[in-house]
Amino acid sequence: MPLNLKEDEMFNSKITGLGYYVPENIVTNDDLSKIMDTNDAWIQERTGIKERRHVVKGDGDTTTSMGVKAAKIAIERAGIDKDDIDFIVFATLSPDYYFPGPGVLVQRDLGIKTVGALDVRNQCSGFVYGLSVADQFIKTGMYKNVLVIGSELHSHGLDMTTRGRGVSVIFGDGAGAAVLSRTEDNNTGILSTHLHSEGQHAEELALIAPGMGSRWVNDIIADNDPNDESYFPYMNGQFVFKNAVVRFSEVIIEGLKANNLQAQDINMLVPHQANLRISQFIQKKFGLQDDQVFNNIMKYGNTTAASIPIALTEAWEQGKLKSGDLVVLAAFGSGFTWGSAIIRW
Ligand code: UT7
Repeated sequence: MPLNLKEDEMFNSKITGLGYYVPENIVTNDDLSKIMDTNDAWIQERTGIKERRHVVKGDGDTTTSMGVKAAKIAIERAGIDKDDIDFIVFATLSPDYYFPGPGVLVQRDLGIKTVGALDVRNQCSGFVYGLSVADQFIKTGMYKNVLVIGSELHSHGLDMTTRGRGVSVIFGDGAGAAVLSRTEDNNTGILSTHLHSEGQHAEELALIAPGMGSRWVNDIIADNDPNDESYFPYMNGQFVFKNAVVRFSEVIIEGLKANNLQAQDINMLVPHQANLRISQFIQKKFGLQDDQVFNNIMKYGNTTAASIPIALTEAWEQGKLKSGDLVVLAAFGSGFTWGSAIIRW
């Protein structure tokens, strides 16, 4: 339920700075076909992915460090100082530590004063969830500038053998960040966000180490069995795909309706980069042209919480987001969780 604040007591939030960072190491489909039974044709045809980035072990990049690199660019582009950041939101499914989460590590590594830091655990929808949290804090007047980061280091936790090929060819590493700032112009910025979950499908896309829930890290390590595939992410690909296309569509329609808008009003859709076939399905359903849907899964694979902020940054850098444009973000993923953000750029 929206707060009952009067119009003149409310602010709006606007994305004022965007940045991304991906590790230099490019892993092509042909590279993967040397270590598992897969091939470029299958991967491109089923997913659209040509290559992805993997952190080289020992290079020093972590989920946090990549997030920090993206955040520095976003803060600079927002034209503010790190000390102007009032709050940090960090979305990831691959945190550096079991606890604490990466939010506090960003506070430390950026040398930001002791502002609050929140970790979001909503996988592919993590950035939209994070954006929504930040938006509420700004709309109610509590904060002026909120840093929202999505970052993932998947490659170190994937099953890079033929057994894991249905999952491991899809995911890549990287980070994206946005600074959300207060604006008093209620006609621009984040118009609304819409969030959902359906936990009955939690196990359809998940990493559930054996006995997790009843055991903790020490037991799991003690029992470590390298032949047990449940140490790796599991995805019921076709089931996830079918749910994704339905939920993406629903949550975009929900967002448009909430603002009395229609599909024809969309200037740019930036979907979570789950699968090029999903993006193309949504594009067709909403009658959008090729230049109205931003896709970069070809270069980076699926970077879960990082995929929307990386895509949004690239779209902005390429001059594809113009003042006054209606920009729609939509995501779906593990949980299941899904969400959308309707933005007047
Ligand atoms: O971001 C979070 C949300 N995630 C998604 O939205 C992902 C949704 N799902 C998907 O994108 C697709 O389901 C996948 C890309 C994961 C898989 O595509 P698919 O068309 O559903 O393929 P499939 O899993 O049904 O597998 C078809 C065949 C199987 O062989 P058989 O049983 O037909 O002989 C697989 O063993 O393809 C085989 N296969 C592969 N072959 C070569 C699975 N992975 C690979 C691979 N290379 N990497």
